[in-house]
Amino acid sequence: MRVLVIGGDGYCGWATALYLSNRGHDVAILDSLVRRHWDAQLQVNTLTPIAPIQQRLQRWHDLTGKTIDLFIGDICDYSFLINSLQQFKPDAIVHFGEQRSAPFSMIDREHAVLTQSNNVIGNLNILYAIKEELPDCHLVKLGTMGEYGTPNIDIEEGYITIEHNGRKDTLPYPKQPGSFYHLSKVHDSHNIQFACKVWGLRATDLNQGIVYGVLTEETGMDELLINRLDYDGVFGTALNRFCIQAAIGHPLTVYGAGGQTRGLLDIRDTVRCIEIAVNNPAEAGEFRVFNQFTELFSIADLAHKVKEAGAAIGLKVEINSIDNPRVELEEHYFNAKNTKLIDLGLQPHYLSDSLLDSLLNFATKYKGRVDANEILPKVKWK
Ligand SMILES: NC(=O)c1ccc[n+]([C@@H]2O[C@H](COP(=O)([O-])OP(=O)(O)OC[C@H]3O[C@@H](n4cnc5c(N)ncnc54)[C@H](O)[C@@H]3O)[C@@H](O)[C@H]2O)c1
Repeated sequence: MRVLVIGGDGYCGWATALYLSNRGHDVAILDSLVRRHWDAQLQVNTLTPIAPIQQRLQRWHDLTGKTIDLFIGDICDYSFLINSLQQFKPDAIVHFGEQRSAPFSMIDREHAVLTQSNNVIGNLNILYAIKEELPDCHLVKLGTMGEYGTPNIDIEEGYITIEHNGRKDTLPYPKQPGSFYHLSKVHDSHNIQFACKVWGLRATDLNQGIVYGVLTEETGMDELLINRLDYDGVFGTALNRFCIQAAIGHPLTVYGAGGQTRGLLDIRDTVRCIEIAVNNPAEAGEFRVFNQFTELFSIADLAHKVKEAGAAIGLKVEINSIDNPRVELEEHYFNAKNTKLIDLGLQPHYLSDSLLDSLLNFATKYKGRVDANEILPKVKWK
């Protein structure tokens, strides 16, 4: 298939573009490179030295003989987007190209507006562009498990059947997101669902959990293909961040009680989930929702696992509970369904000692690049 990976210079997108290319798909990357710019503005950096995108793609070609086309530009620029689609003519668009940090969106009004305009307008442009140019193209859109919040009932995959005053209906599952970033994803989901209903588009919304790990078969092939790995208080995510903190001897930063429970998955499963969604397109008019995670952990569980794995390789790891900068429940019920991708063939890589061991060793290799001032969270929700 011809697959356009929007946001293909980022953490999930880069690994996915190489994986799909390696599996024989014709892949193109579209990216504005704005994430590199936001890193520079905030004076944060990935743990790993990522090469410029052109160099990455040249190296991929040299190693495998495979070509990945490149479109550099912003999806909020509609004519650029249309031109790219006219040239590449994808069968599927995988959309990772958003501002994806909750703390970034909570810095101030400007960052909230930037996040929502970048994400909501970009996604709406994609919907219009598909309708106008490629009505049969399948949109695979990255949402997040954070769209659901932490309801006191089980979380279904997208829809819930409710009986009310003697009548019954299957409705979109209620969303109670916890940041302006997560809200942008909810707005996206509503816009996609509406476009499927009125224009007959086909879309899959992947409510992804927190991704961990750095190596995939492809990104591990060569130093120039290395993926980004964020550890700072704005872009770093749980587990990846803990492993890097452990590597530099910084106490693990558990926010509050640490009972916050979340869905997580290995980056090797992210790329496979995307492949499954692409290979099994939604029907015309269908707005399909999959919960894309493989296991549930509390933040405190993750910290303990990193502490144990660290001890096994001789690292002395401390765990600190710090004031929670977010407004969120620190102890709560959380039980989310995740059967749809497994039914379509996902075989999860569960979190194992060997994965933690390799992530800790990887973090240790690059620890000289860590700026310890960027570890503690600086953005507060109020
Ligand atoms: N990383 C995670 O743990 C995680 C968890 C759940 C969901 N997600 C979702 O997966 C997607 C990818 O996340 P990531 O961690 O790879 O993020 P990332 O920041 O590493 O990558 C996003 C990429 O999109 C590009 N981009 C942003 N806005 C753009 C625009 N307007 N036009 C063109 N390109 C644009 C950026 O330059 C960047 O390369 C996001 O939508 C995110 O919400 C990520």
